[in-house]
Amino acid sequence: MAGNRTFAIVKPMAVRNNNIGNILSIINQVGFRIRAMRMVRMSKEEAGRFYEAHRGKPFYENLTDFMSSTPTVAMIIEKENAVEDFRQLIGATDPDKAEDGTIRKLFGISLTANAIHGSDCDENAEREAKFFFSPDQIFEY
Ligand code: CMP
Repeated sequence: MAGNRTFAIVKPMAVRNNNIGNILSIINQVGFRIRAMRMVRMSKEEAGRFYEAHRGKPFYENLTDFMSSTPTVAMIIEKENAVEDFRQLIGATDPDKAEDGTIRKLFGISLTANAIHGSDCDENAEREAKFFFSPDQIFEY
């Protein structure tokens, strides 16, 4: 999937605030096609493995508590230059620093509750997609 697919997860607070539809609408509007999607409530242990790269950092416990607090929406989305374009669309990690019109600026509340995660490179997109989806859950249409 290198190059044209990335992985995204709508985070708990955005789900709780009823922003799933608003976020999906933006993702579709800019031309991403949804190849896989499901609502998932991670356990603390799963959240810990998902964010393995951050284990030991000061925000790791908070982040994994938050990500396992309520359901999230995981998805694989496709478009040319997917990883980079999607990171532009979601904006800076901190919603206060994100550009106007980005998903995190519109729907993020804090550094931890920043509305959505997007993979930061093709390799992680592949790893994160596989974490949540088996091949038979990914669709061409
Ligand atoms: P995300 O793209 O999901 O990747 C790691 C997450 O850690 C990040 O978004 C933030 O929600 C969260 N986080 C919390 N504190 C920090 C921090 N100081 N620096 C980077 N990420 C942080």
